[in-house]
Amino acid sequence: MYIVFEGIDGAGKSTQILQTKEWLEENGYEVETMVEPTDSPIGKLIRKTLQRKDATSDGIQKTLGLLFAADRMLIMDELTDDKKIILSDRSFISSLAYQQPAEWIYEINKYAKKPDLVVLLDLDVKKSVLRSNQEDEFENEEFLTEVRSNYLEIVKDFNYKIIDAGNGVNKVSSDIKKAIAPYVGLCADCIL
Ligand code: TYD
Repeated sequence: MYIVFEGIDGAGKSTQILQTKEWLEENGYEVETMVEPTDSPIGKLIRKTLQRKDATSDGIQKTLGLLFAADRMLIMDELTDDKKIILSDRSFISSLAYQQPAEWIYEINKYAKKPDLVVLLDLDVKKSVLRSNQEDEFENEEFLTEVRSNYLEIVKDFNYKIIDAGNGVNKVSSDIKKAIAPYVGLCADCIL
């Protein structure tokens, strides 16, 4: 099972992944977590590129599209173990939301593993900008407004759950557990 957590910067993906992992492990599942961009040399190059002043320009966005796709291919073989639940902080869905055009992004990611479930942590852009460290050029209101609306459209092509990430950490966590439970054979109504 490959469950991906998506959402604009500052939506709380990493905190929620840890809480979800703990809950699944308590219920006897073997869980692995991963993060995109990875810590490979390509991932490092991506992080550097994200800090460029022109990071939202068309040329750099296309460059990033290619780098993200390549970085993702490096972890492809780790996603084949069906005994484990893999929780991923971002996936090729991020590329569809952040980079353009969609047909090209689909094409260069055609070998990327498709998620069994997308958990979209949806957050108001103003809150996102307040929460984020704003170290990347992406983390501005105009760009993230577009990314947020892209996400809300893209997820419709997958199994997905939209979670209101503007609530407190515990409420968000229990909403996520309720959303995932039926996919992993756990009782959703038993979650407080
Ligand atoms: P990340 O380090 O996860 O940022 P944060 O911790 O703030 O969520 O991701 C770095 C940035 O990369 C983030 O702004 C989203 C962007 N990104 C893309 O544009 N395309 C992609 O395919 C991926 C995986 C991330």
